Amino acid sequence: MIETPSINKLAMKWDTDLTAAFHTFNQYTRRLEESYNQLQNRVKEIDREMALANARLKDKVQQLDSLTIYLNSLLSSIHSGVIAVNLEGKVSTINMAAEKILKVIKSNVMGTRVGEIFKNSDGGTSLLLLALEKKKNFIDVERKIVTNQGMVKWVESSVSLIKDTSENTIGAVEVFRDLSEIRELETRLRSADKLAALGAMAASIAHEIRNPLNGIEGFSALLGRDLDDSDPRKKLVKNIIHGTKNLNKTVTELLVFARPFRLNLKNSSISGILDKTLFFVTEEIKQKSIQNVIIRKEYDLDIDSLKCDPEKLQQAFLNLCLNAIQSMPSGGNLIVFTRSFGNDESEGIQVGIMDTGMGIKKEVVHKIFDPFFTTKQEGTGLGLAIVNKIVEAHNGKISVESQENKGTSFYINLPVKCNYESDTFGSRWENNEFLISQYL
Ligand SMILES: Nc1ncnc2c1ncn2[C@@H]1O[C@H](COP(=O)(O)OP(=O)(O)OP(=O)(O)O)[C@@H](O)[C@H]1O
Ligand SMILES: [Mg+2]
Repeated sequence: MIETPSINKLAMKWDTDLTAAFHTFNQYTRRLEESYNQLQNRVKEIDREMALANARLKDKVQQLDSLTIYLNSLLSSIHSGVIAVNLEGKVSTINMAAEKILKVIKSNVMGTRVGEIFKNSDGGTSLLLLALEKKKNFIDVERKIVTNQGMVKWVESSVSLIKDTSENTIGAVEVFRDLSEIRELETRLRSADKLAALGAMAASIAHEIRNPLNGIEGFSALLGRDLDDSDPRKKLVKNIIHGTKNLNKTVTELLVFARPFRLNLKNSSISGILDKTLFFVTEEIKQKSIQNVIIRKEYDLDIDSLKCDPEKLQQAFLNLCLNAIQSMPSGGNLIVFTRSFGNDESEGIQVGIMDTGMGIKKEVVHKIFDPFFTTKQEGTGLGLAIVNKIVEAHNGKISVESQENKGTSFYINLPVKCNYESDTFGSRWENNEFLISQYL
């Protein structure tokens, strides 16, 4: 007979198992709870760590931002040009001074090959690329560069390789100074010294020549008066008189050029001065029977009045117009214009005198303002030297653009504001006045 457990026994066993199961369940639940709590604590800890790391990162980014701003403002406030390139020779940094000196715009050149900026300079290979190629620095190299607009500039550059913390080259940086103004001043000073010496010498020679010259002209005229028109000697006498007249013109121009002058300043209308000039030009055209010259006036009358020496300016404008006429023996256009100008240095009136004549050869264009430089048979070569002297006395600037067989344009910038009293030009010539007056 099979013994069946009593209901009581079964109930007891089931109770014991259930109690054990609950116990185990409770244990697991507690462990789970503990693990959950630990996990929660860890998450909180990580959250705190992350918040701390974030704050540190934010701090670093802020520091980096202000460092970048500081470096950028440092770069923009220095007067030297700075250009940096990466290993491929592409521009990675360019400051404001470099933009100004090289006449480029940052947004156009960032990331482009630096050779593009210096394509007309350094024999085609930029100093920066040379430094990268030869793996060497260049210190204080003085060189001539040509901007992409064709402007010639003298700069002094130092190029250094950029290294990372492991001493690997990662690019190169060039720091350069614009020396053009200093060079121009030096040249002007040299030529002013030369002119001062020349002026003193010319004045003394002119004085020695002028008196006997007047005598020769007078006596020749007397000789000619006594000779018959049919006498072949009459022609010879005429030649003497023509020659002495020419020589007298040269000597007079030399004196005008050599003599110091004080400006007789008046508020004057520039278009008025130009109109008077053109009256004399028209007379000259008539006298010399020059055909087919058309004169065009383009005045900007909104800005017309200037404190200047009207007579001296008239003389300068006349010399320029006469040159223009002489460059168009078979006719052409003479355009005379005025307009306002304004740049970093000054503002004022620009006078332009343009012709469609034979132009000036490239090889001689830099010499045309030199005294005695002429390509004309009967020229003295003092016309433009006098123009230059008059423009400089007004603190102005003259420039020229010319193309052979197309024509020439002279631009004269006359500033509205200029301090004539403290002008060094005046005092230079004041000293000279004393020197020259001893000879006259
Ligand atoms: N508008 C022009 N077109 C072409 N060549 C010019 C022009 N103006 C000046 N030149 C050149 O510059 C030179 C110097 O000019 P500058 O007026 O000083 O002397 P010049 O005209 O030769 O003699 P002068 O003393 O009689 O004026 C000229 O001989 C000429 O070669
Ligand atoms: Mg002339």
